[in-house]
Amino acid sequence: MRIGIIGTGRIGSTLARILVAADHQVVLANARGPQSLAALLAELGPAASAAHPAEAAARAEVLVLMLPFDSVQGLLPPDAVRDTVLVDATNAFSGPGAPRDLGGRGSSELVAEWYPGTRIVKSLNT
Ligand SMILES: NC(=O)c1ccc[n+]([C@@H]2O[C@H](COP(=O)([O-])OP(=O)(O)OC[C@H]3O[C@@H](n4cnc5c(N)ncnc54)[C@H](OP(=O)(O)O)[C@@H]3O)[C@@H](O)[C@H]2O)c1
Repeated sequence: MRIGIIGTGRIGSTLARILVAADHQVVLANARGPQSLAALLAELGPAASAAHPAEAAARAEVLVLMLPFDSVQGLLPPDAVRDTVLVDATNAFSGPGAPRDLGGRGSSELVAEWYPGTRIVKSLNT
């Protein structure tokens, strides 16, 4: 399967290693752009490629969000992820360990509003 991962920090790079070891392809995107991922791509080998977030979303069969929650809204054109399975691993923090006040709503409810038509799976977090 081809899996897009947006956010290649602590958990994004870890998941990429696990998926490649399990014979999946990964398309990686971060904030600094594809050229900044050269070292990680060299480590992962030919099953990994880098793209800008919207391109990673367009190429992915499943897309995993592994970036700060505050960067999710407006990150992608909603049409790029319509009908896509979107795995949301973000935590809605306002600071280290401090939950953000979402007015009693679940963070993935907001993600679902920002990206209508996706199938959202909250995962890999608390
Ligand atoms: N660490 C954990 O144990 C853990 C566990 C479960 C869930 N989470 C959640 O997973 C998310 C990532 O955590 P982390 O610890 O892996 O964070 P991290 O190490 O700080 O990595 C964050 C990644 O997000 C990318 N990013 C930031 N803004 C972006 C944007 N606008 N567009 C594209 N990419 C962007 C960064 O890009 P650059 O590399 O270019 O800066 C970086 O690769 C957070 O929401 C966190 O709460 C973390």
